[in-house]
Amino acid sequence: MTIGIEMGTVSGGQTSGQPAMLDLEELLATRLLVQGNSGSGKSYLLRRLLEQSAPWVQQAIIDPEGDFVTLSEKYGHLVIDAASHTEGQLTRAADRVRRLRVSVVLNLDGLDADGQMRHAAAFLGGLFDADRDHWNPMLVVVDEAQLFAPAAAGEVSDEARKLSLGAMANLMSRGRKRGLAGIIATQRLAKLAKNVAAEASNFLMGRTFLDIDMARAADLLGMERRQAEMFRDLPRGHFIALGPALSRRPLPIRIGAVETESRGVTPTLTPLPATPAEEAREMILAVASEPEPRLPPRRAPAAPPPDILAQLAQAVPLASAPKEVPQPTAEELAEHKAKLDEILRGVLEEPDAAFRPVAVLYQDFLVRLRIHAVAGKPPDIPAFRRMLAVARAGVSPEAAESPEWGEATAMAKALPEDVQGVFLMLARAALDKLPCPGDEAIATAYGTRSVGRARRLLTYLEEQRVIVMRPDAGGRRILAVVGLGWETAPGIP
Ligand SMILES: Nc1ncnc2c1ncn2[C@@H]1O[C@H](COP(=O)(O)OP(=O)(O)O)[C@@H](O)[C@H]1O
Ligand SMILES: [Mg+2]
Repeated sequence: MTIGIEMGTVSGGQTSGQPAMLDLEELLATRLLVQGNSGSGKSYLLRRLLEQSAPWVQQAIIDPEGDFVTLSEKYGHLVIDAASHTEGQLTRAADRVRRLRVSVVLNLDGLDADGQMRHAAAFLGGLFDADRDHWNPMLVVVDEAQLFAPAAAGEVSDEARKLSLGAMANLMSRGRKRGLAGIIATQRLAKLAKNVAAEASNFLMGRTFLDIDMARAADLLGMERRQAEMFRDLPRGHFIALGPALSRRPLPIRIGAVETESRGVTPTLTPLPATPAEEAREMILAVASEPEPRLPPRRAPAAPPPDILAQLAQAVPLASAPKEVPQPTAEELAEHKAKLDEILRGVLEEPDAAFRPVAVLYQDFLVRLRIHAVAGKPPDIPAFRRMLAVARAGVSPEAAESPEWGEATAMAKALPEDVQGVFLMLARAALDKLPCPGDEAIATAYGTRSVGRARRLLTYLEEQRVIVMRPDAGGRRILAVVGLGWETAPGIP
């Protein structure tokens, strides 16, 4: 028996009006490429495909814009926020995902291009390297695939590009044996690496207006260029289907309706994701937040990527203090620290600083240290993250020294570095009995504009048992810090 899912209706030719089917088993063997200009309806199409096939097959979505996180509401996908995890953690989480057969959305929103590539590569690597016992069929959807398999070198580092291209090529060429069926979508076929595109045998071609993309599409489909002209005027939501899982001849289809909304549509109304199968979720998130193992993993030959920023920090000429310099006095140390704090404040006063990745802020910080001729070894990235956390929490340097505050920072240290700042901000509001910060303020402190991410972060902090939230009679939010007896005043979420 074959399992066919209904993608929509045939919109032309002899079978016009009939259901347009996609054969799932064939798809697992022959993969799919979706192409169409921005706004042609690719993400919508992917959503339709994912929703229709969710009851039949496990899914993983590599989601650069956090578009698909809403699948969790109705279909129970586990959302993994890539930005809150290291690459090693994601690789291990992916392995756990295959063991437990849970559908997941890897939300890459909030990372810069380089980070998106590295994190996606780490996660795909984990899916790919899973133990043979767990090679169950799985759809692996990659939206905006040209970001992960670019045809040409761009602004990203060679290292990130190599990792990501390698992972995408593995997925598309060698994934099949391991049960992984690649489904990739791109708005610019000419920008997608040829070897990655060439591995798909099924195509859904949407509106395409650039000649160069049209030419690539015609080549890929083995069509005359003139025949490919039919892609030029396709309306939104209309695609030409071709391939063993779809149709033997080019077939115009119209994509049917979806059940869940794209997150982009109404960001402020995004509800909290429903909790998927509780146990699986806990297990995956637990492994994803474990500290890095000391020993190299048994079957991961890839050397850890060099920490470019750490190298950069060491390369700063001022860093190497000559040996004969006497040890600084306590006063000098305090002065030095005050100077660093002041420079950090300057970094954070730049417009949009809240939304810049830590790596970018760090570079800015290093440059300013040089401009102000601050002597001594600059803080490394972890130290910088801690400074950033305190600064973003709005804690005064004096308060930061107090013993009470020491308890909060001790709790923060047990959390992943990039959520420490938000925790400290909340802890400070609780300590000073200020109103609980709103979702937007929390989002800003977290370095994102997404209110949905802020809410997921609060849920995460609750799961980590560091905070407890409760509404007051008027629906305002009160937040308590677990174990310290501090509580905020009610605040509007
Ligand atoms: N088949 C369709 N039916 C109804 N609305 C659609 C359809 N396809 C796309 N849309 C809408 O058009 C807009 C753009 O679609 P989207 O899938 O985001 O495009 P792309 O991913 O190709 O840039 C979205 O608001 C989407 O909801
Ligand atoms: Mg899209």
